[in-house]
Amino acid sequence: MAAVSQFSSRPNNVLANPPTIHSSAHKTRSRKFEVRCNSQNGETTPGKKLDRRNLLVGMGGIYGAANLVSADSPALATPVSAPDLTKCTRGTNLNTQQPLDVNCCPPVSEKIINYKLPPVKTMRFRPAAHLAGKEYIAKYEKAVELMKALPDDDPRSFKQQANVHCAYCNLTYEQPGSDAKLQIHFSWLFYPWHRWYLYFYERILGKLINDPTFGLPFWNWDHPDGMFMPGMFARKGSPLYDALRNLNHLPPAIADLRYDGKDAADQSRIIQNNLVEMYGEMVRNVSQLEDFYGVKYDADTNSSAGAGAVERGSHTALHRWVGQDTHGGEDMGNFYSTGREPLFFSHHANVDRLWSLFRGLRGSKPKDFPDSDWLDSNFLFYDENAQLVRVRVADTLENEKMGYTFQKVDLPWLRFRPIARVRKSKAAATSNAPRATETKFPVKLDKVVKVLVDRPKKSRSKKDKENEEELLVIEGIEVDSAKFVRFEVYVNDEDDKPSELIDKAEYAGCYSQVPHKNSTKVKSKIRLGLTELLEDLDVEDDDQILVSLVPKAGGEDITIGGIKIIYSA
Ligand code: C2O
Repeated sequence: MAAVSQFSSRPNNVLANPPTIHSSAHKTRSRKFEVRCNSQNGETTPGKKLDRRNLLVGMGGIYGAANLVSADSPALATPVSAPDLTKCTRGTNLNTQQPLDVNCCPPVSEKIINYKLPPVKTMRFRPAAHLAGKEYIAKYEKAVELMKALPDDDPRSFKQQANVHCAYCNLTYEQPGSDAKLQIHFSWLFYPWHRWYLYFYERILGKLINDPTFGLPFWNWDHPDGMFMPGMFARKGSPLYDALRNLNHLPPAIADLRYDGKDAADQSRIIQNNLVEMYGEMVRNVSQLEDFYGVKYDADTNSSAGAGAVERGSHTALHRWVGQDTHGGEDMGNFYSTGREPLFFSHHANVDRLWSLFRGLRGSKPKDFPDSDWLDSNFLFYDENAQLVRVRVADTLENEKMGYTFQKVDLPWLRFRPIARVRKSKAAATSNAPRATETKFPVKLDKVVKVLVDRPKKSRSKKDKENEEELLVIEGIEVDSAKFVRFEVYVNDEDDKPSELIDKAEYAGCYSQVPHKNSTKVKSKIRLGLTELLEDLDVEDDDQILVSLVPKAGGEDITIGGIKIIYSA
């Protein structure tokens, strides 16, 4: 394949040292807890505090309370509780010119079963989509065809399965004791919720074709051979085909993991850029769990706390890349319709696989949060027998325990740590950009914004760096939930074309968002790892760095609340 040989014959100038993954002390998270008490008539009583956890227990919304309370944090847990399906409200169809109110609520069922993972008798096998053989593809097509043939009101039908995504991402569900509606993206709920979603989708398909070993194919977009729309999804007439896509992106178009709504001018760089992007999302930027998983979900105020690196990076880029080139981006380009795209499930099977890989790369460091707020968060799904089940995050941590494994493939991005060729101090030393502390925030990102950011600590020892990650925090990022937006962050970038610098060390990461609910302002933050980046630029002794925020899509709809450097153990 042309693109691949190009990839392998590339000069080694950006090939990385083997990645070093910094060890960090097991973290103790400080707990902040405040609850508003909603009185009968729905009014908020300020000042009166109520233990939301007790409220949930009273409503039967969580599992046995005993295991929720850990010794150091009595009665402070606020896990997300499974929604009350009878109170599901309307979502937004963003595909029409004028956003439309829609109903994507699931059928209601009186009986809810607390789901227990069944003992694993036979492992399901998830193959890389581009490596799957004819027989497998025929089987998968058959299964999706049968799913599409189920009556619309069957919770296992293709239509209802698509609605599951719409309902959980469109702020349709209430949280008991809170004014905020549930959103399972943009926080630490992202990986576990989607794992459950695929888990039942896969089991329904397996049951329809009577094959307990059936596993979903994953779209291996982190490998050069997989950086195309997999062939099985691109064949017209197949149940895996979806006409509501950007048809310019059928094979052989190269999938762009930094897609911003416009095709890259220089297609020859995409594969290499993708690998650097993956290295950043999987290694460089995620020494802290929060930066991989996403920010802790605060059920009382949150609708978009802060997405992890993969979610806001490659994951979001490909949602947009697959969807139509329209404001709504249907089907894949917005959360309302994305579940109607068969490729969505292979896209997320890869996200799911990256989660498992991330845990594997952690070695002896913590792989997931110990917080009961996370582990006991729970959701509702219909299983392969159309029974409504309550599932929890704690059961998702290991894919093998859930009865499936992934085909093993090479991970070329592990070798793509970018290193600058010369010391990169000059950009900061000669810049006349204002200092962050003297900048009037919030600032609008309708143009490139540059600020000098002070580093509270410099020339850190190896030990210091192992103990604490230096992080660039960009906070108060306010965007419109209905818009696709993206910006990128560069450090000490002296070039006027920062978008071409991704294969150099200056690229620190990105923020982007898949459109979801009709015009709600959402606020979040991102944290970008600096420890490795400053080594790679050879500027560890500098007092300050020059940070450039480069709008790539919808900049006029983005405002930034502040920028600073912190250290996190
Ligand atoms: Cu729930 Cu990729 O979206």
